[in-house]
Amino acid sequence: MSKRDFAWYEDPDLKNLYIKSASNAMRGYHAPIVHPKITFTGTNSLTDLTILLGAYLTEDEKRVLIVVDKDLRKLGEKVAKKLKELRNIDSRIFDNVIPEVPLNTVREAVAICEEYDPKVIIAVGGGSTMDMAKVIMIYYEKPEVNVNTMMAPSYLGLRKKIFLLCAIPTTSGTGAEASFNAMVTNTDRDPPKKVAVPLYEICPDYVVLHSDFTKSMPPYLTMGTGMDALAHAMGAYVLQGSTVYTDIHNLKATEMILEWLPRAIKRGNDLEAREQMLMAAFIAGVGFINTNAAGIEHSLGHSFGGIFHVHHGISVGIFLAASIAYQSKVTDRFYDLAKIFRIEKEGKHRDQVLRKLLEALQDFMKKINAPISIKALEKTQISKDDMEAKKEELINYAFNDTCTLFSTRKLDPPQIWKIFETAYENKIDDLMELYYM
Ligand SMILES: [Fe+2]
Repeated sequence: MSKRDFAWYEDPDLKNLYIKSASNAMRGYHAPIVHPKITFTGTNSLTDLTILLGAYLTEDEKRVLIVVDKDLRKLGEKVAKKLKELRNIDSRIFDNVIPEVPLNTVREAVAICEEYDPKVIIAVGGGSTMDMAKVIMIYYEKPEVNVNTMMAPSYLGLRKKIFLLCAIPTTSGTGAEASFNAMVTNTDRDPPKKVAVPLYEICPDYVVLHSDFTKSMPPYLTMGTGMDALAHAMGAYVLQGSTVYTDIHNLKATEMILEWLPRAIKRGNDLEAREQMLMAAFIAGVGFINTNAAGIEHSLGHSFGGIFHVHHGISVGIFLAASIAYQSKVTDRFYDLAKIFRIEKEGKHRDQVLRKLLEALQDFMKKINAPISIKALEKTQISKDDMEAKKEELINYAFNDTCTLFSTRKLDPPQIWKIFETAYENKIDDLMELYYM
């Protein structure tokens, strides 16, 4: 395999350099704040976006590619109808969005773009759909690009063919509507591998947060994507790449998710809870992406979820307690998270506060029926032997994940395995061992 077949963050030399310096030195040197230009919220938000597009596009530019998956095609059609009726904007629907975003399906959409010449892409869907729309834009504009070499800050000079990228999330969790990252499966590699494509230019320009698009989400998906949002906010808060800007987002998002997620799960048609969760997930999206990464619960969760086919949000949720416990040895930031869980620190030792926080997090997860450990997974039964059989793969995947580069506490392969072992039951005493070790 040549060097170009690897993602840049898999390079062992660069990885070593990053782990030693990135979180400290880079922070003062390069810390842009990236987010969408306008985020429309409320019941008029889809109309607001349509009016904006009507004003922006000339008559012969009124062509929009709507990217949606087959299950949600109706929501794509709803957007198409609004564009046509309100501002006579033509559109085409591409509905072959596949989870994990394989590059070969991206090329299928690019072929449609070459023929149709859209000026705007609107993604209507969850994380995979929004990520796919971002990568369609990259490959349509720059077919020669190698996704392995994408890193922020680098620039491709996009928006020559696609003027605007818009996102309408149908789940509340991924934060993809606010982020400049896309996760795609590089099918040019053997075996294919999921890689991160971080590029400021792929942050959506306009976003619509409208509860009409999330209210039909079933409870399990509401819980899973909500756990993803919680992992974004809490996991990123303990990262050294945090700034005051990311802090206000990650703390507020944590508070909102604790308050509103149980209601959104319990009563799907509770539009207030749906709106608050859309907002919380968006705020968490801005919060985590501007630390440059998600926390290490994402490295571990990407690995575990990818290998055992467990939902992303459920998977990262399982590793959230371990991520906080492990890194809290070298950072005090868990105190602020504990405060949101109403844990008093007065008169308590440092480790007692941490223990209370881990307990409170697990209590919250139990309350919303989120599995707190690998053993507690109901949909996929995974034994310790299954884990052992995949040991090398689990470790390598997590170690070579981009989020590992940004860990506040250095993470080595033996420590990664220790966390996997701990997460099997996630007993509080074992989690505390990660802190002490
Ligand atoms: Fe996530």
